[in-house]
Amino acid sequence: MTSLADRFQTAADALAGDGWCVLGPLLPAEATAALAAECMGMHTAHRMTPARVGTGQAAPALRGDHTRWFEMNALSEAQQPFVEAIETLRHALNRSLMLGLAESEAHYAVYPPGARYARHLDQLRGRDARVVSAVYYLNDDWYPEDGGALRLYLDDGRTHDVLPRAGTLALFLSDRFEHEVLPATRERMSIACWMRRREPGALP
Ligand code: OGA
Ligand code: MN
Repeated sequence: MTSLADRFQTAADALAGDGWCVLGPLLPAEATAALAAECMGMHTAHRMTPARVGTGQAAPALRGDHTRWFEMNALSEAQQPFVEAIETLRHALNRSLMLGLAESEAHYAVYPPGARYARHLDQLRGRDARVVSAVYYLNDDWYPEDGGALRLYLDDGRTHDVLPRAGTLALFLSDRFEHEVLPATRERMSIACWMRRREPGALP
């Protein structure tokens, strides 16, 4: 079993090289299941909001997910180990790559069947504090025919599809890779997370 430190070093090397990578389970299966249960519970209880696009409007044809932000100073029991792992990863990336990542933010997302997120960039070049995008998947028993892949548009015109299987973590540089969420035949849950640099002008 490779240690967390080794896996994070591999991630740092991949980000420094290709700018993206996909990691195996970030958390034990029970911890991922607890996140999935909380996410689905919030969705069922109508505690999630239709996601908005850059204009601040909901635009379901472009983006059909429902989201709920983690409250970083009031994390649930299920969220704590996830945020701890993401923060450990953030520190590892800072040590290896000196990216100056100051903080993380995260939200649950549920995509109903047929919902998509059209091709986009998480950061408009230079206009946003997001440096690294991390997406963690919460869906058991997901198969290619279920659809719902995250499609990454790579530098050389190729694409790479990531299935949203429980435990998978996709990492990529926010200002470099356009990506999209393909529609799925079933409900699709994820946690979208960004590691941010300090906003210009913010206090240290
Ligand atoms: C996003 C996003 C990808 C996914 O929320 O910006 O691209 O696979 N999510 O859920
Ligand atoms: Mn995105």
